[in-house]
Amino acid sequence: MFSKLFGRKKETSVTGQPVSDWSFLGTDIHSHFVPGIDDGAQTVEDSVNLIRQMQDMGYRSIVTTPHIKYDHFPNTRNTILTGLQQLHHALEEQGITMPVKAAAEYYIDDHFMHLLDSEPLLTITGNEVLVEMSFMFEPVRFSEIIFKIQTAGYKPILAHPERYAFYHSRPEVYRELKDRGCYLQLNVIALAGYYGKSVKHIAEQLLKERLYDYCGTDMHHLKHAEVMQRMRHSGIMQSLVTYPFLNASI
Ligand SMILES: [Fe+2]
Repeated sequence: MFSKLFGRKKETSVTGQPVSDWSFLGTDIHSHFVPGIDDGAQTVEDSVNLIRQMQDMGYRSIVTTPHIKYDHFPNTRNTILTGLQQLHHALEEQGITMPVKAAAEYYIDDHFMHLLDSEPLLTITGNEVLVEMSFMFEPVRFSEIIFKIQTAGYKPILAHPERYAFYHSRPEVYRELKDRGCYLQLNVIALAGYYGKSVKHIAEQLLKERLYDYCGTDMHHLKHAEVMQRMRHSGIMQSLVTYPFLNASI
């Protein structure tokens, strides 16, 4: 199955050296490694295993991003930062030196709009905030919401724009989002077809048009890690090595 998805092409970097890990990205900015607080790693052991895989794949640091989605994962700064401490202890015990910080993946809803007015948000770096929205429909008055995020002093990074099927029939929206000041973050396994053909196609288009700013794993579990590991031996990596992702600047 994977030979079909990934092909067998051997990739090289601009210097002609073979590329076989994800170290060119440096920092991953989207994952679910804080144990037991969302639909990602459920136990400390899961978290440690996944972070080991990240280290093995060449990542140099991680900003992990638990969901804050009031109806499903009602996390707070406190649940996230307490969970992060627990994770740090476990990593230390296991001798894993990977630097891990925490931010959040904020789901855009009324609760998020309330947080925006009431407390400092957890940022990826500087004032940059990772946000996601419903997979079913665009939030009502989305452009006003983007404006409110900006006037509160933040720069939104829209997680996995390629996964919002309601945009697939009007791809001009992606450039409009950029023009309004949103960064766009690729879920890299989309390029391996993990989320289906149409998501893969849109991801390839956005990449070709240089509309992405960040690359993320959105890793929740070992299945995602396996896809990332297999991508190391595919031709897909070659198209990413020279792309000016901002990850390396964190
Ligand atoms: Fe996520």
